[in-house]
Amino acid sequence: MDVKSILVAYDGSRQSQKALDWALDIAAKTNAKVTTVTVIKPPDFSPTGEVNEFMYDAEKYYQPLLDKVKKTGRDNGREINTVLLRGHPAESIVKYADDISADLIITGTRGMGGFKSLVIGSVAQKVVTYAKVPVLIIKD
Ligand SMILES: Nc1ncnc2c1ncn2[C@@H]1O[C@H](COP(=O)(O)OP(=O)(O)O)[C@@H](O)[C@H]1O
Ligand SMILES: [Mg+2]
Repeated sequence: MDVKSILVAYDGSRQSQKALDWALDIAAKTNAKVTTVTVIKPPDFSPTGEVNEFMYDAEKYYQPLLDKVKKTGRDNGREINTVLLRGHPAESIVKYADDISADLIITGTRGMGGFKSLVIGSVAQKVVTYAKVPVLIIKD
């Protein structure tokens, strides 16, 4: 197994932080490049058309978190590329993994929200279903 490029699905949750830690551990052994992708899902319905404002607020919310990701990388001697995308989370993560030829995707079991009854969150489930490369789902 040759791991050259790791994509971490980072939604700001504690679990995705743990996924990042695993990525850095694996990168320390393989010298793989580490990229994080954070997907902002535009609201489905927006009667007053404040979609841009929503997206702007979301980007503002994530920027300091992504700065922290970069710092965590530097503390570990690596430059992490942090990418912010708009779209459907799972679809965007899988497609982006393809775009950068990632050979491993790492996610958490759960994330920022969703149904507590699910053992594995819906985004993680879809990523593992549709990804063309191995997916490592980090348990709590
Ligand atoms: N919008 C997102 N952008 C990037 N990664 C995400 C996003 N949503 C979820 N993930 C990834 O999927 C994992 C599981 O989250 P998810 O399936 O959304 O569960 P939940 O329903 O608990 O939020 C997260 O720990 C993270 O790694
Ligand atoms: Mg979620």
